[in-house]
Amino acid sequence: MKLLLLGPPGAGKGTQAHRLMARYDIPQLATGDMLRKEVANGSELGRAAARIMERGDLVCDDLIMAMIAGRIDREDCRNGFILDGFPRSAAQAEALDTMLSSRSSDLDRVIEIGVDDDILVSRITGRFTCRACGAGYHDVFCRPRESGVCDFCGARDFDRRADDNEETVRSRLAVYHRQTAPLLPYYASRGILVTVDGMAAIDKVTEQILAALPTPSAIDSDDGRPLE
Ligand code: AP5
Repeated sequence: MKLLLLGPPGAGKGTQAHRLMARYDIPQLATGDMLRKEVANGSELGRAAARIMERGDLVCDDLIMAMIAGRIDREDCRNGFILDGFPRSAAQAEALDTMLSSRSSDLDRVIEIGVDDDILVSRITGRFTCRACGAGYHDVFCRPRESGVCDFCGARDFDRRADDNEETVRSRLAVYHRQTAPLLPYYASRGILVTVDGMAAIDKVTEQILAALPTPSAIDSDDGRPLE
């Protein structure tokens, strides 16, 4: 299954992607995570992206496309993937369409996780993630079952993002409304958009998403075989 999660910063895209990965045996392709790795590695791309990300602006389309193009051809994407944070502009959506159609493929579903702007700031400023497996947590809404220990992998090392401060979040929200939200009518017109209530509890959001997706056994892999 080829799934796209769309929504403003802090809507819960990463949280939900993490839950769907195991169920469908497909990877999460998160351009924000990929960029943060480049920044941490000090690569040329990372150095160019760091300043843009600190401002909350979009990194240029060419760099993003170069990063994602080879990624969807890897073996772990054989059964599909979950796009998280990409596409984020009309140019990226067009480039994705071209990339998929050249592989005789297409998105199966686009899920919009809808959340009001006013609660996103508190969500983002309370967020932290496991350094080992990337699972997301929140100081109030989603604490690990055992304090300081990741529920998923047992690691004890957590991280907070440099761009998770109020000023940058407000700028990221403005960029979302200006450049990314206009993609919603485009996917709606293709009949593949489903909107879920992202202000519900995390488990309830997962339930809404699962209800909108085909069951794993009903999906064919790229080579036409039903999934295990
Ligand atoms: P990116 O890393 O993609 O950030 P984002 O889109 O701003 O989204 P977030 O990761 O902040 O939020 P999320 O929706 O995943 O929320 P989460 O699940 O963590 O991008 C960062 C930057 O990289 C961009 O600003 C840009 O500069 C650049 N970039 C990335 N992709 C790009 C592209 N394609 N083109 C150009 N530039 C690009 O949840 C947030 C918190 O809320 C967590 O603590 C979680 O526990 C909690 N939470 C989640 N769901 C709920 C719920 N239902 N109830 C209560 N709490 C909840």
